[in-house]
Amino acid sequence: MGLVSGLEILAAARAGKYGVGAFNTNDLEITQAIIEAAEETRSPVIVALSEGGLKYGGDALVALVRYLAERASVPVAIHLDHGSSFASCMRAIRLGFTSVMIDMSHEDEETNIAETRRVVEAAHAVGVTVEAEIGRLGGIEEHVVVSAEEATLTKPDEALRFMQATGADYLAVAIGTSHGPNKGKGRPYIDHDRIREIAALVPAPLVMHGASGVPSALVERFRAAGGEIKDASGIHEDDVRQAVTQGIAKINTDTDLRLAFTTAVREVLRDTPKEFDPRKLLGPARDEMRRVVVERMKVFGSAGKA
Ligand code: G3H
Ligand code: 13P
Ligand code: ZN
Repeated sequence: MGLVSGLEILAAARAGKYGVGAFNTNDLEITQAIIEAAEETRSPVIVALSEGGLKYGGDALVALVRYLAERASVPVAIHLDHGSSFASCMRAIRLGFTSVMIDMSHEDEETNIAETRRVVEAAHAVGVTVEAEIGRLGGIEEHVVVSAEEATLTKPDEALRFMQATGADYLAVAIGTSHGPNKGKGRPYIDHDRIREIAALVPAPLVMHGASGVPSALVERFRAAGGEIKDASGIHEDDVRQAVTQGIAKINTDTDLRLAFTTAVREVLRDTPKEFDPRKLLGPARDEMRRVVVERMKVFGSAGKA
């Protein structure tokens, strides 16, 4: 099946009321874990690289992701996560990405519309589809820490106006989630009514950022292996399932993979102090991430759709 555009995967997901995971990668093992999990569960999947990931892995990382995506037996899109400029999106397209996000959500509406439209025109000319965002998530947006009070949830009428004005293909909405491992006390709040209202006006696939589950079993293992993490909390699986039935089609997950990777490495270092073969650290990390991604795909409902 191999490399496809983002919209090809996401239009089917929105129509079929299931979600497709967009998982962030930064290296070989993370990419293998994501694509192997997709093949194991027969899921379409989106492999996402942030600008930080691109800086870390360079063009070589993109070549590696493309190599694995092109040979996958399931549909895979390669996506730029939180592209911060027109130039950044053009670089990604030149490198072979099949989907880009232009994130101007921190700008005023007029600038967000103008810059998004510019990216959409250029991307569409070469068959690449575009995610844009309106509203502002809590957590880390544009590498700036945004408190819950500063976060602005997406307004349905603005979302409609924005999509009509920009021609973007899928829309990231601020509906209560935030990036990272601290998503709020108790069961983090998700504004399901807002998702429903936006979906009633906007037929495009909707995107949930900050969707990690931050599984407590993983957090406990991370702590037991010497890791420190305060007030860990993630999005409840039932909230993800409900959101998917209401129009969320792309579900972004990074934190859960980071936790899985680091927990596995910590455990090997703790349990086998004489070990110094990197493969004995990175292999278990890959296995742990693959397990996490498989579980996510079952929750999203993408398993069996490829
Ligand atoms: O949304 C942000 C992703 O978790 C990527 O994070 O910019 O540190 O690679 P990063
Ligand atoms: P998490 O931090 O919840 O994994 O969200 C990742 C994300 O939204 C990447 O764009
Ligand atoms: Zn995000």
